[in-house]
Amino acid sequence: MPLDSVPRRVGVVGFGRLGQSLVSHLLTQGPELGLELVFVWNRDIGRMAGAVPHSLQLQDLTALGERHPDVVVEVAHPKIIHDSGAHILHHANLLVGSPSALADQDTEQKLREASHRWGHAVFVARGALWGSEDIARLDAAGGLQSLRVTMATHPDGFRLEGALAAAAKTPGLRTVLYEGPVRGLCPWAPRNSNTMAAAALAAPSLGFDGVIGVLVADLSLPDVHVVDVELSGPPGPSGRSFTLRTHRENPAQPGAVTGSATVTAFWRSLLGCCQLPSKPGIYLC
Ligand SMILES: NC(=O)c1ccc[n+]([C@@H]2O[C@H](COP(=O)([O-])OP(=O)(O)OC[C@H]3O[C@@H](n4cnc5c(N)ncnc54)[C@H](O)[C@@H]3O)[C@@H](O)[C@H]2O)c1
Repeated sequence: MPLDSVPRRVGVVGFGRLGQSLVSHLLTQGPELGLELVFVWNRDIGRMAGAVPHSLQLQDLTALGERHPDVVVEVAHPKIIHDSGAHILHHANLLVGSPSALADQDTEQKLREASHRWGHAVFVARGALWGSEDIARLDAAGGLQSLRVTMATHPDGFRLEGALAAAAKTPGLRTVLYEGPVRGLCPWAPRNSNTMAAAALAAPSLGFDGVIGVLVADLSLPDVHVVDVELSGPPGPSGRSFTLRTHRENPAQPGAVTGSATVTAFWRSLLGCCQLPSKPGIYLC
C-alpha cells in the first residue's frame, strides 16, 4: 500500500553497504510504496556500473536539485553532512545516516539554519540505537540523569583517525580506546560513533557533551557489533533511581562498519521519515 497519496522522490548519497541495500529496496519495492528513486550519487561513480541504471546516476552532487527529490538519504560519510548538508536541505528533507557529523557545533548550526530557511526537516536514522524513542521520552519528561553507550567490536570493524587509530593497531584482547563525552569521540571515530551520536540527539538535555561514549576494541568479536546502553534517572523519594540496560549483539561481516540488523533499520527509517511532515528541526526516525 502506498505510504502517501503523493509519490516520494528519493535520492541516495553513498553506495556502500547501506546505499546498495537502500537502492535495491527502492528499485524493487519502491513503486508499490509510492517511492521513486530519482538519483544515486557516489564518490566513486564506477562502483555504480551495472547496479544502478545510468539515468539514475548523478555525476555532480551540487546538481541534485535538477532531480527534484523530496528526501535525500546520506549513507556515505559525515564529511558529506559537513560539506553538503545545508545544500541538500535547500532542495529536500535530509535523512542523515552519519549523525556523528552533528557533534561539530558549526555543522549542527548550519543544518538548523538551512532547515528553518528552506522549511525542510533533518531526519536522523536511529541506526543501531535500540530504544531511541524511550530515551527521547524519558529525556523530554526530565527523567534522564545519565546515559552511556558502549560499542565493542573487533578492531578491523573500526575506521579510526589520529591517536585512536594508533591505539587500535596494538590492542589487547579487550581494550578501551575511548571513554568520555561523545563530542570528543566523533572526530576520531566518525564512522563508529553514529550510535552514540544518535543517543546524544535523542537526549538533548545531556547532548553530545553529557552522553558518555565508550569505544572498545575486542579481538573476540570478529563478526558481531555489540552495543550496550545504560541509563539512569534522578533518585526518587526512596533514594532509588530508575535504571535501564540494553545489550544488542548484531552479526556483522568481518571488517564491516555496519551490522546486518542495522541495514534493515535504515530501510525502516526511510519508510518512517517519508510519512512524517516536512517541518524545520531535527528528528530521530
Ligand atoms: N547511524 C548508525 O547507527 C549507523 C550505522 C552504520 C553505519 N552508519 C554510517 O552510515 C554511513 C554508510 O555506512 P556503510 O556501511 O554503507 O559504509 P560503506 O563503507 O559500506 O560505504 C560508504 C560509502 O560512502 C563512500 N564514502 C566514504 N567516504 C566518503 C567521503 N569522505 N566522501 C564521500 N563518499 C565517501 C564510499 O565510497 C562508499 O560508497 C557511514 O558513515 C557509517 O558510519 C551509521
